[in-house]
Amino acid sequence: MTATLEGLESGPHILRSGAFHGLLSHFRLAGLEGQGPAVVPGDSDITRLLDGVISPQGPARAECAVLLGLLLDREDSERVGAVDSLIRRHAAARLPELLECAEAVSDASDASQTRSALLFLFGHLVQDHPEIVDSASSAFGAESGAAHALARIRDDAVERPQRAAQVRAYLGAEAFSPLAADRLELARRTLACPGCHDALDFGPEEIRCVSCGEAFSWVDGHPNLPPRGVEQRDEFPEDVAEVYETALRPRFVKVMGRAFGAGDAEESELRYLSDRLRVGEGTVLDLGCGAGTWTARVAALVGSDRVVAIDWSAAMLRRCARRVPGAIIVRGSAQAIPVATGSMAAAVCWDALQAFPQPGGAVAEVARCLAPGGLFVGFTFRSSPGPYAYFQERITANPRHLLDLDRFRAWCADAGLDIEDLTVANDAVLFSARRSA
Ligand SMILES: C[S@@+](CC[C@H](N)C(=O)[O-])C[C@H]1O[C@@H](n2cnc3c(N)ncnc32)[C@H](O)[C@@H]1O
Ligand SMILES: [Zn+2]
Repeated sequence: MTATLEGLESGPHILRSGAFHGLLSHFRLAGLEGQGPAVVPGDSDITRLLDGVISPQGPARAECAVLLGLLLDREDSERVGAVDSLIRRHAAARLPELLECAEAVSDASDASQTRSALLFLFGHLVQDHPEIVDSASSAFGAESGAAHALARIRDDAVERPQRAAQVRAYLGAEAFSPLAADRLELARRTLACPGCHDALDFGPEEIRCVSCGEAFSWVDGHPNLPPRGVEQRDEFPEDVAEVYETALRPRFVKVMGRAFGAGDAEESELRYLSDRLRVGEGTVLDLGCGAGTWTARVAALVGSDRVVAIDWSAAMLRRCARRVPGAIIVRGSAQAIPVATGSMAAAVCWDALQAFPQPGGAVAEVARCLAPGGLFVGFTFRSSPGPYAYFQERITANPRHLLDLDRFRAWCADAGLDIEDLTVANDAVLFSARRSA
């Protein structure tokens, strides 16, 4: 138990998710109530969970708040009361700190996730402490949904407890949704050794291939799975990554695509992505994810807990991790994708194929990662058929990687990918292909 709580407080993001799910089953929470006797958390467990919520730099504030909320939920239904009053006693003693934490959350990088979790916990305490509503109003706005939901629970708690419980369940669902997937389990199932494609063992100090024994590290709390012997310069170090999305990307897309999108390239890109990325279930790879705005769009279409985002640049990945905290973030190469064969329902490669050293090899690698029938959606640029190519070749660091459409068709055919759509708009290329079943 202590070990699992420690796992929640420190260590890489994927392992923390594993610890969170370990605790859910330990306490038999969230749909697991029926399995065996209930484990009753003790005084020190509750203190640690509250510390986890209150600590401003705590890596697991959302997880700790959700666990406390669920413990209170469980006691509601079982009417046991012992844990319930224990948590209430501790929470009352630390109420000022809890309320301050609502203010702090508004500025956090994972603000919406932590805020939902905190509201779920507050939803269980507001009947004892009606002043929570005022704090939520000042932290999140008097007209905010947060303040309304808490006021509703407070007002309905006695006369209409059913309705209050329903509002709490809404808050709980919102808080739980980004945490619902066990990322450790998903990582074990989908990530693989870039050399031999076999499974990886995720330890707190290192990651090791179960088959060839190759050892890998964690970088910024994410798996660092580069292929052995592949040398590639990182073209997006910190100073470039910092201005990439605001300054570099829009101009690059416009110029490289030769005014693609009639003034609104982003809208055209997004329309294509949302029209084509239709995957009801399974994991989606975002290859060359960059700083994460487009990963967030992929996540908005399929759910962040179904996204594995891979890039070569650590500085880009740090931004992506902040923007899409629910996704699995991995440093790796498109030339030897650290993903298990056939494990992806879809792959997205957005504005990135042209940046890879060998785009043909990357297409073959994507096809290997896709399950039969899996979808590959991408956005890149062709080499302009006219004199404009002169400029295209001078503005990109990798001029030779602008797409030749015939070669692209051949790469897909060789990799077992059937092209379903190939849209050329000025010099932008949008494509959708499917791995043969
Ligand atoms: C132009 S950015 C696109 C980022 C993002 N998909 C977007 O649409 O804004 C290209 C990305 O490809 C990454 N990249 C370049 N070579 C790579 C490789 N061999 N493997 C994985 N990523 C690579 C770069 O680090 C960079 O983040
Ligand atoms: Zn291996």
